[in-house]
Amino acid sequence: MMDSHYFDEIDSTNELAKSWDLKKVFTLLSTKRQTQGHGQRGRAWSAPQGNLSFSLIWKEPTIPLSDRARISLVTGVSLVLTLSEYTPGMLSLKWPNDLFLNGKKVSGILVEGFQDRVIIGIGINLNSQLEDLPIELQKNSETFFHVLNKKLSEEEVLEKLTINLIGHLSSLSQGHWDDLMKDYSKYSCLINKKVQLEDGRRGVVAGFGHEGELIFQDESKSSPESIVSGSVFLEK
Ligand code: BTN
Repeated sequence: MMDSHYFDEIDSTNELAKSWDLKKVFTLLSTKRQTQGHGQRGRAWSAPQGNLSFSLIWKEPTIPLSDRARISLVTGVSLVLTLSEYTPGMLSLKWPNDLFLNGKKVSGILVEGFQDRVIIGIGINLNSQLEDLPIELQKNSETFFHVLNKKLSEEEVLEKLTINLIGHLSSLSQGHWDDLMKDYSKYSCLINKKVQLEDGRRGVVAGFGHEGELIFQDESKSSPESIVSGSVFLEK
């Protein structure tokens, strides 16, 4: 059911995933060193040596097009559940798809639809030192190595994550979205927290809507509104 390929160094596993000749329903492309990684919204994603960068390609996904947006939230759930084994009680999800360790970003997700496939790209600050990351990211980033003071097996983490993620994707295609969203909410670090939107508005996160949209209660308005995309910043 799954094809797996490892590269010592590669520009971007998500880019390679676009031209990869798919033989199975799921294909995993992974590397310990990615030189030209893409992040959300056209940003770069820095992946120094020791970090994990991979893309799981789902060929002809058996879910309706309208459900595709759900994949990145489900991927977050899968990351938090799998990686909690190593850092129990320390991981949370920051909407829409950042994984936080001790309140700082430790992993990012970039899901892209391309022709016959969905590409789920994941980058994890696993075995790098904080100082290996670009200086401007160090303040708000975390790495598993920095917290645990020991290296984790990249192969083991990758295997566990892939198995768990494929399981969650099949749950999604079997219609278990509501349960997955319950887990998402459970691990969210935003519920009932004061946040600021990109446009500077301040308010509180009341929860998530049925499609995973953020329910935002502006401090100067009486009724909440749904935010479907963008970033939010936790108020200190
Ligand atoms: C983000 O938080 O901005 C998303 C980061 C996603 C990075 C991963 S690393 C593997 C895959 N290949 C890429 O070029 N990007 C994703």
